[in-house]
Amino acid sequence: MQHSVTPESRAKVNPLTSTYSFTVFPDSLNYAGTLFGGKLLSEMDLAASNAARKWLYHTSCDGLVTAQLSEVNFKSPGMLGDIVEIDCTITKVGISSITVLVNVIKESKTGQSGVICTARFVFVALKDGVPFPHNIELN
Ligand SMILES: CC(C)(COP(=O)(O)OP(=O)(O)OC[C@H]1O[C@@H](n2cnc3c(N)ncnc32)[C@H](O)[C@@H]1OP(=O)(O)O)[C@@H](O)C(=O)NCCC(=O)NCCS
Repeated sequence: MQHSVTPESRAKVNPLTSTYSFTVFPDSLNYAGTLFGGKLLSEMDLAASNAARKWLYHTSCDGLVTAQLSEVNFKSPGMLGDIVEIDCTITKVGISSITVLVNVIKESKTGQSGVICTARFVFVALKDGVPFPHNIELN
């Protein structure tokens, strides 16, 4: 069912920023003993796509895919037991695209924090498997 949702009301329901977190367990480590980069990228993709997909509620789009991942910078290693916080900010929308900047913060077992990784994701909204205008505006 379609609803009439203004950009203002959508922004109230879906803030531009969202956070997802997980704890580094042993099965996420590489053989250097630090958080495996592929695991982190997967979690970032999930967090960023979830942030974007919420903006597609009440649109005619029925899904989205990751189109581009760029500007990936692994700045410091994640360690066993760290709480990893993935902060996502929607920064730009096109006709069917949504750009999300991702900043990954770690918090150690002793409470020390630092940046693990930053990256930029572009998602494309779909309908029936092809790009479709989402009609989203950012104010
Ligand atoms: C992403 C995809 C849907 C784009 O399809 P397409 O027919 O080439 O898209 P179009 O040329 O019509 O462009 C549609 C939009 O996508 C954007 N886009 C397409 N390819 C892009 C890319 N590589 N990087 C960034 N944006 C891209 C365009 O800029 C355009 O944005 P706009 O609507 O806001 O102006 C298609 O390439 C695809 O399905 N790729 C595989 C996605 C995938 O499997 N991801 C991993 C699993 S989620």
